[in-house]
Amino acid sequence: MENVIISASVLSADLCELGRDIRRAEEAGCRYIHFDVMDGMFVPNISYGIPVLESVSKAAKGVLDVHLMITDPIRYIKAFAKSGADIITFHFEACNDVKAVIDEIHSCGKKAGIAIKPATPASVLGPYIEMSDMLLVMTVEPGFGGQGFNYDMLPKIADLKKMISERNADVPIQVDGGINDVTAGLVKEAGAEILVAGSYLFKAPDMKEAVKKLI
Ligand code: DX5
Ligand code: ZN
Repeated sequence: MENVIISASVLSADLCELGRDIRRAEEAGCRYIHFDVMDGMFVPNISYGIPVLESVSKAAKGVLDVHLMITDPIRYIKAFAKSGADIITFHFEACNDVKAVIDEIHSCGKKAGIAIKPATPASVLGPYIEMSDMLLVMTVEPGFGGQGFNYDMLPKIADLKKMISERNADVPIQVDGGINDVTAGLVKEAGAEILVAGSYLFKAPDMKEAVKKLI
């Protein structure tokens, strides 16, 4: 099996053909389906939420990777867990008590991820490395698909990888935003293991070929 996991962000899918696009992504080799939830408060955009996730969970065979870009995420953890999420990632910047959110996710029997925006240093994650199941370094400002990759995030990914290794922890780094056949190699080299890709995959003429290039 490959040493990198591709998580297909369905934000760039044809939302009228979501089931078909999820199957396409899975058949192309994406082991995770990435579901971006935006509340119009934490980020300046609104996407989709709980009822859509319920349908998606019936269509997806692989891991459902839910990325919450919402203020005060603890309010909705149980609902997203019940709707079929396997991994629930929330933003460090969106809550006061990070540990409480992780505990809430774990109490629902789900994996917990913590995301940081480009301006947030990797060091804030230090206290939570051992208790989390995934760490997400945003490589664009959260809120929209199709943005350009922020190259300043490469040293941050490497710093975080170093922090994880120094603790002998086994927590994968996920990256999200602007991933394509060029940036995929760079983030992998910096230490990322789970690559979210939206527009690159869904705009590709041949998704299978595109996934191969990312891996
Ligand atoms: C942005 C979302 C991403 C987005 C990535 O806020 O979290 O998951 O869909 O899209 P691309 O791969 O097009 O940058
Ligand atoms: Zn995302």
